[in-house]
Amino acid sequence: MQSESLKTAPTVVNRAEFLRNLGLSTSALMALYCMGTLTSCSKADDPAPLTPTPTPGSGTSTGLTGNIDKSKGVIDFTLDLTNTNYSRLKTEGEFVQVGEIVVANTKDTLVALTNVCTHQSGQLQYRKATNDFECNVHQGQFNLDGTVKKGPPTKAVGVFKTALTGNNLRVTA
Ligand code: FES
Repeated sequence: MQSESLKTAPTVVNRAEFLRNLGLSTSALMALYCMGTLTSCSKADDPAPLTPTPTPGSGTSTGLTGNIDKSKGVIDFTLDLTNTNYSRLKTEGEFVQVGEIVVANTKDTLVALTNVCTHQSGQLQYRKATNDFECNVHQGQFNLDGTVKKGPPTKAVGVFKTALTGNNLRVTA
């Protein structure tokens, strides 16, 4: 039987071991890791998305109902434009990110495009001044119909149908 004293010491000291060597207990380490967040500790190391997307719910709480995830089926969701998460879409020039889709109030209509640049997966932002979308990585540009306006991307992004009924904006593939 191997005793505890025969175990080999690690050659690389990680952050937790370093703090432990300073005399902090495991519970003190967990408190340090979790401090400043009210969420689960397992999410503490996850980077925050550029624009948080509310989780689909009842519609009264998040303003979003339906499917925004193509891995779960056909994209088909409705945004409640009276909800604070999406009310900005009532204003020309504003846009929101919904999963991997960007929805914008353009000069003429509400436009929804795939929010993954075909060059290297950057995110698109609507620009009111030029009435187009620009990628946040290498500034590639896309027209409202998803076609490339300016490289480096060479392939169009996907376009979704939009239909506004009252304050409900439906987006479908
Ligand atoms: S990732 Fe969009 S232009 Fe490069």
